[in-house]
Amino acid sequence: MKTYAFIIALTTAAAAAWAAEPIATLRGPTPLVEQGTAPTMPKVSNEDLRRLRNYPEQPPTIPHHIRGYQIDLNANKCLSCHSRRATVDSKAPMVSITHFMNRDSQFLASVSPRRYFCTQCHVTQQVTKPLVGNDFADIDSVLSDQN
Ligand code: HEC
Ligand code: HEC
Repeated sequence: MKTYAFIIALTTAAAAAWAAEPIATLRGPTPLVEQGTAPTMPKVSNEDLRRLRNYPEQPPTIPHHIRGYQIDLNANKCLSCHSRRATVDSKAPMVSITHFMNRDSQFLASVSPRRYFCTQCHVTQQVTKPLVGNDFADIDSVLSDQN
């Protein structure tokens, strides 16, 4: 009997904790068996303003719209401005040197197939709030807090 009481007490405690602090979910209050209404698509920022990278290896966000930009076997619209040759006229920043590197860390003459599908890593900037909160701190502020 004692064990049962203990298990019931534990279960009740767990249920209470869960009710107090439900697991964060992007579904919101929609029950699992129902399909929630899709959120409206956020507006894409087209301000030409580069955003701060959170760390050096972050793929920078795209500061312009890319609606209808073709990236497939036949054409890569992004490279029509961001390739080494195109930057003279487009004034766009050249894809970085890492984009020419193959998997053996050898530099190729043109953009590596690994970096061909730009939107695999780069996303547009959107006028929207983060979906979930976070307390990410930039390394500079972490370092300055220690001093
Ligand atoms: C018509 C020319 C043009 C095309 C096409 C274009 N870009 Fe750009 N891009 C620019 C210019 C110019 C900038 C510099 C900032 C500005 O003026 O908007 C830029 C900035 C960027 C940046 C910001 C770099 C940084 O350091 O913050 C990224 C990332 C980027 N573009 C990715 C892309 C991707 C991915 C595509 C294709 C889906 C693309 N661009 C297509 C002209 C272009
Ligand atoms: C596998 C992920 C990945 C793909 C695919 C990719 N990039 Fe990047 N890109 C990055 C990362 C990470 C950085 C920042 C670090 C670096 O320079 O490598 C970056 C940096 C850049 C920059 C900034 C360069 C600078 O010197 O400021 C531009 C512009 C850019 N990418 C454009 C593109 C375009 C255009 C394509 C498609 C042809 C592309 N990227 C494909 C990950 C990617």
